[in-house]
Amino acid sequence: MSIKKVTKAILPVAGFGTRFLPATKATPKEMLPIIDKPLVQYAVEEAALVGIKEIIFITNHTKASIERHFSKSSKLEEKLISSNKKHHLKKINPDILQDLTYKYINQEDQLGLGHAISLAKDEINDEPFAVLLPDDLFISKPSCMHQLLNTFNKYKKSVIAVNKIHSDNIHNYGVISTKDISSPYKLDGIIEKPSADKAPSNIAVCGRYILSSDIFNHLQNVKKDHSGEIQLTDAIQSLIQKEDVMACLYEGEKYDCGSKKGYIEATIKLALNDDSIKKDITSFIRDIVE
Ligand code: G1P
Repeated sequence: MSIKKVTKAILPVAGFGTRFLPATKATPKEMLPIIDKPLVQYAVEEAALVGIKEIIFITNHTKASIERHFSKSSKLEEKLISSNKKHHLKKINPDILQDLTYKYINQEDQLGLGHAISLAKDEINDEPFAVLLPDDLFISKPSCMHQLLNTFNKYKKSVIAVNKIHSDNIHNYGVISTKDISSPYKLDGIIEKPSADKAPSNIAVCGRYILSSDIFNHLQNVKKDHSGEIQLTDAIQSLIQKEDVMACLYEGEKYDCGSKKGYIEATIKLALNDDSIKKDITSFIRDIVE
């Protein structure tokens, strides 16, 4: 595995968002706001904070608002300046996003996460790269990507973020098997969405990865699963036959914002972290639960 710096991140955003219909009929799920920022921006900021310079969205024609969101909006800027609302400029052009460039690759057919990642092959060349699934929102210091990057810098090997999951929910995730007992684990195996009785452990893949570009060779050879999708998990299982892959136990909070429960929990959590509304929301919650 090369020891080049990680400067590119792939964000797959082409999914339908069926768990959030009807909200996602005309609005991409990634553009649903958590407080005052669309979900996808949390992942983009997490990438920017660890030094990623290029964001590669795997998207489709129904998601044009994502591209608009990350483009310059001269008219809005002029309007804010002329109406004495200059202080809002930082909200649409935050410093943290200033050094980023964006690319958009079309994925018209929903052929799975592995297929989505494979579409970015020509953009990545032979560098290690990050993958962030924007549905998963992480709240921690250091961030989930930062924890992964620390492991990557130490071992110079592909590394995926994992967390412990209750067996009732394990069938929703990629699940790892490992003989190690302390993080970071060296992966022995990984399986996509096993039933609880077939799961090799209770340690699941959460949506952050740093991968060697060799993964593209493996993605090419992976067969479609029973639902016709090409799984990134299957390509990782193939990669570990050739080179080590580490799994890093994420320390912090994680919210699956692709589900109603996770989305609302993340909203409440971030509201309580926001000094401008924290007091009011705390007393509102107290009032309604008493
Ligand atoms: C994807 C991956 C799965 C991983 C999960 C994390 O599944 O295929 O291995 O555990 O993200 O959120 P999805 O949620 O897209 O079905």
